[in-house]
Amino acid sequence: MALFDEHDLERLRTVPLLAGLEYHEEIGSTNDYAAWLAGEPDVALPHLVLAARQSAGRGRGGNSWWSGDGALTFSLILDAAALGIAPRRLPTVSLRTGLGVLRGLEPFLPRATWHVKWPNDVYLDHRKVCGILAEVPRPNRLVVGIGINVNNSFAAAPSDVRGRAVAMSQLAGQPLPLVEVLAAVLGSLAEMLVDGNGSYPPPQSHAPWLELWPQYCLLTGRKVEIEQGQRRYAGICEGIDADGALLLATPSGPQRLLSGVVASVQGVR
Ligand code: BTN
Repeated sequence: MALFDEHDLERLRTVPLLAGLEYHEEIGSTNDYAAWLAGEPDVALPHLVLAARQSAGRGRGGNSWWSGDGALTFSLILDAAALGIAPRRLPTVSLRTGLGVLRGLEPFLPRATWHVKWPNDVYLDHRKVCGILAEVPRPNRLVVGIGINVNNSFAAAPSDVRGRAVAMSQLAGQPLPLVEVLAAVLGSLAEMLVDGNGSYPPPQSHAPWLELWPQYCLLTGRKVEIEQGQRRYAGICEGIDADGALLLATPSGPQRLLSGVVASVQGVR
């Protein structure tokens, strides 16, 4: 059975953020396809590429992305200028996406513990529920790829994924309405990504992402280790700044990191 039917797609067409959408039962990677599509002149943006299954899903750092049936896997093609996102704010897009995803998902499990993990993961009860891969395939075009564990099982997943990941249905005790989860995430992404001074209308309730971040940040106040190429920084996280940089208090003084991989977080596996 198809993961989304025509009725679901009609529902998604009512989401104000989207100018267009397409659905694939199977695709290599929605990000790869969206990067190609972003070069086509007649595609109205924002455009959603949604897939039931990916045969070559990609994660950050050249890793592959595993997802089972019942997960949400999609990419959004965005025009940064139309959203009002200034070039120097582009590094904040993945952070804002994480926060947008979290705020869209939270109402489905309001009693659970929700965190954003800099730079771009969403955690549910201290396990990864969503990964984000933001890419710039050409000037002024963004592809934001999002994988969310909603109704999928991890029975067939590699053991490292099984140990670190969680699906929302595990906590809910039942499957969640996939199309409503996606619609909620897209609505909340509009609030986080539209800056309001581009050609796209500003959202009605503009949630200030930077003010929301501390409420959900997994790393703040914790001892963390961040890898940046060959370098490794260890210190206490003091939050982020408006450019999306992670602020660390290290034994040798403050550090401001614009990118990196979180190698360890005290108290979190
Ligand atoms: C990560 O945590 O490493 C990022 C994972 C991103 C996965 C999503 S699934 C939809 C989109 N298409 C891809 O190939 N990757 C992203």
